[in-house]
Amino acid sequence: MSTTRKQILVGVAWPYCNGEKHIGQIAGAYLPPDIFARFQRMRGQDVLMVSGSDTHGTPIVLKADAEGIPPEAVVEKYHGLFVEGCLAMGLTFDLYSHTDTQNHWDVTQMMFKRHLEAGYIYRESQPQLFDPMANRFLADRYVEGTCPVCGYAEARGDQCDNCGSLFDALELKNPRSKITGNTNLEVRETEHFFLDLGRLNEPLLEWIGEGKEHWRPNVLNFTRGQLQLRELHGRAITRDIDWGIYIPVEGVPQTKRIYVWYDAVIGYLSAAIEWAMLTGEPDAWRNWWDAEVNPHALLYYFIGKDNIPFHTIIWPGMLMGYNDGPKPHLNLPYDVPSNEYLNWGGGKFSTSRGNVIGWNTVLSQFQPDAWRYVLTAVAPETSDVEFTWQDFMDRVNNELLANWGNLVNRTLGFAYKRYAGVIPTPGPLDDGAQALLAEIQAGFEGVGALYNAVKLKAACLEVRRLSQRVNQYLNDQEPWKRINSDPAGAATAVYVALQAIDWLSLLWAPILPFSSEAVHHYLGYDQPLFGRQYTETVEDARGKHLVLRYDHSPATGRWQAQPLPAGQALREPKALFTKLEPATMHGWL
Ligand code: MF3
Ligand code: ZN
Repeated sequence: MSTTRKQILVGVAWPYCNGEKHIGQIAGAYLPPDIFARFQRMRGQDVLMVSGSDTHGTPIVLKADAEGIPPEAVVEKYHGLFVEGCLAMGLTFDLYSHTDTQNHWDVTQMMFKRHLEAGYIYRESQPQLFDPMANRFLADRYVEGTCPVCGYAEARGDQCDNCGSLFDALELKNPRSKITGNTNLEVRETEHFFLDLGRLNEPLLEWIGEGKEHWRPNVLNFTRGQLQLRELHGRAITRDIDWGIYIPVEGVPQTKRIYVWYDAVIGYLSAAIEWAMLTGEPDAWRNWWDAEVNPHALLYYFIGKDNIPFHTIIWPGMLMGYNDGPKPHLNLPYDVPSNEYLNWGGGKFSTSRGNVIGWNTVLSQFQPDAWRYVLTAVAPETSDVEFTWQDFMDRVNNELLANWGNLVNRTLGFAYKRYAGVIPTPGPLDDGAQALLAEIQAGFEGVGALYNAVKLKAACLEVRRLSQRVNQYLNDQEPWKRINSDPAGAATAVYVALQAIDWLSLLWAPILPFSSEAVHHYLGYDQPLFGRQYTETVEDARGKHLVLRYDHSPATGRWQAQPLPAGQALREPKALFTKLEPATMHGWL
């Protein structure tokens, strides 16, 4: 593995703050980047992990209407709920902000003006769907109909949930208003701003055509399909709606706003800028973003599959348009590791159909590492996966607890009791012991390569296999039987197992940060493995907003097999994981 420090931006899809997120979304877009970021930080890379709540667009307005409260109140409520979930699950955002901040408005309007000046945004009057019963234009989620591409009957005005295609609401067949149910819709002229994607078609095809061998096939195939089969054309990036960022053009009324997707993707840039301001080094964002300062930064975008076209077509296109002008030029995406869906009960998790397992709810019922383990072990990396509660319980009990938890508990418990709370001094290691430790040590390369390639499910499986090797070793050695007859041999076996557990706790740490931190502590180390999450309230010209941050010092450069110091005082271990029984499944089973 290279020793030069790399700048890695871990961009995480900005969740709409319109309700409690469900575990399908967490498995798809929110847990994987944290595992990846923790690994890269342990390895000593310079990670900036950013995201925030997506506060604009029809998803927020529809929720506000449903709850009878203003959109601002929806934002505050569900932004706070998501931040609580991040704390409980240990999602280590360097900055988790939201899009209704002065900084985000400024950065968005700056980019809009630049696109406009360079001719990547044009203005045109076009027909749009209008609901006379509601007396308003129907954008995005205000309208549903049949998908023009795949025929799915419940496609939304801007995207089809079934095939992922993007289109304009006017292209829907049999459109109906979500507000009134009206199917007698009119088509009226209205003036909007359009992103000239037609002009970006060629550059995007060229970009997607080279050096993308490390992309997941599902992401690459979908993107190529969209670019090749359906020629891109201008896409409206403003809406007739009174919630969202103002259009920075004189004379445009505030009844028109910027389309939520145009501003949301800019969040990756604006959050890096906000983070830099908060750290007191206002130019620090350039280390990840400015192509002149650092063309070698690697920018990753962790998303669910419904977000693919926005991250592999629209956002790179926006960046290319932006870069067709004076410096600074901005780095394009390096990888877009998008997951497929985690399903439950035979269908996709769906908030509107009430088919959900609420994230905050189940985090208060089960250990965060239990979730982190199961959602990684079953991760829908290359195809949809069905979640069942029986499988959740079985994996926690038979894999996490039986394999790793028991190994730690029996070894540390035995060492703590029988060696006066101190790591025993080993005798010479025989071939078996040396081979075992060499195999675990090689995990820093092998498992590291899997984490680095965002093959998190495979990484999880490999660490489990290594843990099982140590279980076998202990079963063969039986130090608890030999402690009196062969004290030197028993002490060596216990030392070897503790050393293996020490390294395994590091290999597990990106996936299981809470329990690895505990193991690290029981082994007698004083420095924690990971840094500290904290929240803060920031005030700007648009008001106060809550942000989540992460102080990662001093936990860096931990991805290496250091010798475990014999004689180090252990701390009294407690069971790592709680065994699940049907009676403690909170009625889910
Ligand atoms: N809010 C969108 C969703 O929940 C995701 C936005 S990702 C970003 O599907 F790139 F736009 F930020
Ligand atoms: Zn479709």
